[in-house]
Amino acid sequence: MNKRLYHLYCRVFQTTLFLVSPLLPYKKQRLITGARSILTLPAIIKESHKQHICIISDTHVITLPIVQELLIELQKENIHYSIFDEVPPNPTVASIEKAKIFYSEQKCDSLVAIGGGSSIDSAKALGALIAYPKKSLYQMKGILKVHRAIPFLIAIPSTAGTGSEATVAAVVTDPSLKEKYAINSFPLIPKVAILDSELTRTLPLHLTSTTAMDALTHAIEAYIGNSSTLYSRKASIDATTIIFNEIEKVHKDVNLDSSRQKLLIASYRGGEAFTRSYVGNVHALSHPLTAYYGIAHGLANAVTLPHVLIFYGTKAHKKLASLAREAHIIEKGKSDEETATLFIEKIRALNKALDIKEGFKEIREEDLGALIHHALGEANPLYPVPVIFDEDDCRTIYHNLMK
Ligand SMILES: [Fe+2]
Repeated sequence: MNKRLYHLYCRVFQTTLFLVSPLLPYKKQRLITGARSILTLPAIIKESHKQHICIISDTHVITLPIVQELLIELQKENIHYSIFDEVPPNPTVASIEKAKIFYSEQKCDSLVAIGGGSSIDSAKALGALIAYPKKSLYQMKGILKVHRAIPFLIAIPSTAGTGSEATVAAVVTDPSLKEKYAINSFPLIPKVAILDSELTRTLPLHLTSTTAMDALTHAIEAYIGNSSTLYSRKASIDATTIIFNEIEKVHKDVNLDSSRQKLLIASYRGGEAFTRSYVGNVHALSHPLTAYYGIAHGLANAVTLPHVLIFYGTKAHKKLASLAREAHIIEKGKSDEETATLFIEKIRALNKALDIKEGFKEIREEDLGALIHHALGEANPLYPVPVIFDEDDCRTIYHNLMK
């Protein structure tokens, strides 16, 4: 297919999805926020009449004092629970299949994910496997493949970044295929999200910063794409304002509970934005960096974000400028080009202030063909990006990241 026809095919695909999006079943979630709000969990479980919850977590988060306090409260209320705390930093097909066996053996009937995006995505993917016992995760890759209800799912994030508690997506890594892919389906949206800053208190500083930049990436990519809505634009603006206002404060003083609580809201709003209006080429280019080199998702996005925005050039100036003005990052009165350029400079300065580097030495020239293949496979035709990338565009950005 020649380039012009291929672009037309991508744009028709994206426009069709956008036009049907008002008909899609976005469920209103129950949202609970505030320090120590995780302790509302026993009451929610009782209200929902669940008999045996499966807690999906990792070995660090499960030991947090507030989580231990929660477990005592669950025992006091005679709520049965089993803990699967073997979620790895990037959930794999094997780790999720192991969780499925655990869930069945323990005779659980509901899921509570407590942790970063990895734990929440694991719980969603596990839910999909339970809903479709004869299907593999790979068969559910892509959009709208899961139609059956998954078990009742409550998501409690311990990082402020992925926004997974608000989204349709579960991102899974398959080391055998060297691929990181997403399962995007409406039944995966958790029924309840609990945003409790007590859980983010002990997060390492670098992870706090890079996950916040992931949330910023969600907000920006959703806003500058062609499928934003009034709702998603407002969510993007909220997330962007909060991140620029709060992340440097937290970087200087991690004990600022109110700022960490606001960052959880920013992450949630970023999730709401991109689950309606998609991410873009930053995510498409960064996912292979995680799959090939184990680079953490937030870091991969934080570093890749300014490179992609600069590459978009004039095609993204108008929307970048609009977001920068609405989020009060750049004062009004400047041209779109000037405002967008200043906004990108502010993002680079923010990365620098957060001790985030500008490129990756890990990227190897001989891997570029495969990285580009995966990046283009993710981005096109799905993501309604300002510029549809081809192989040369991806190569240029990966080369810039290698410098
Ligand atoms: Fe992300």
